[in-house]
Amino acid sequence: MNLIFLGPPGAGKGTVAGSIAKELGVPHISTGDLFRAAIKNETPLGKQVKAILDKGDLVPDDLTIALVKERLGEGDTKGGYILDGFPRTIPQAEALAGFSPTHGVVNFALPDAAIIERLSGRRVCKSCGRGYHVKFMPPKREGVCDVCGGELYTRKDDNVDSITNRLDVYRKQTHPLVEFYTNRKLIRDVDAAPAADVVLQSVRDALSKL
Ligand code: AP5
Repeated sequence: MNLIFLGPPGAGKGTVAGSIAKELGVPHISTGDLFRAAIKNETPLGKQVKAILDKGDLVPDDLTIALVKERLGEGDTKGGYILDGFPRTIPQAEALAGFSPTHGVVNFALPDAAIIERLSGRRVCKSCGRGYHVKFMPPKREGVCDVCGGELYTRKDDNVDSITNRLDVYRKQTHPLVEFYTNRKLIRDVDAAPAADVVLQSVRDALSKL
């Protein structure tokens, strides 16, 4: 199944996508992760997009679409995939429809206050990328990844200015996708406010109805 996880920043898409991808045996493809890897490796793409990510703006559609098209061309996507953070604009969604069919879209809903609390307390492992939260999903040892022992860090865009901008960008450019996919009868809404295990089960239930 080719799936899209849609929703505002910090709604928990990445957290749930990691688990569901393992259960389905498909890759979890996060455009944010792809851009952050390019920045870390100082590739030409990374140098081009660094300031955009730090500010919380969207990377231009042409660059993002080319990146995803290339990634979906890799062999591990043959049995399906979860796209997390793509598409984020109508042109991205239209482009995707041209090169890969979508079988379902899970739409994560969360109020702004909860988003701000989640993003402000997020920590990410520098080595394996696993996400934590200082209050809701703390690591066993402060600052250390439970899985690989890597160092936890705060993402550069998890600051008040960038979070405020990302919410604004989401409302203006990404939220119209809810109507786009509702019209195509692909969307399943999930309340992302409960605890992570409850949200995970809601997503499983939503997927079973596709
Ligand atoms: P991206 O990496 O996609 O960031 P985002 O949309 O801001 O989403 P997040 O990854 O921050 O949130 P999430 O929903 O995955 O939440 P998470 O599971 O981590 O994009 C970054 C940037 O890249 C963009 O700003 C843009 O510049 C660029 N970009 C990416 N895609 C692009 C595109 N298509 N087009 C153009 N530009 C693009 O959870 C958040 C926190 O909450 C964590 O701490 C977690 O532990 C905690 N948490 C999760 N679930 C729960 C729960 N149920 N209860 C309590 N806490 C929870």
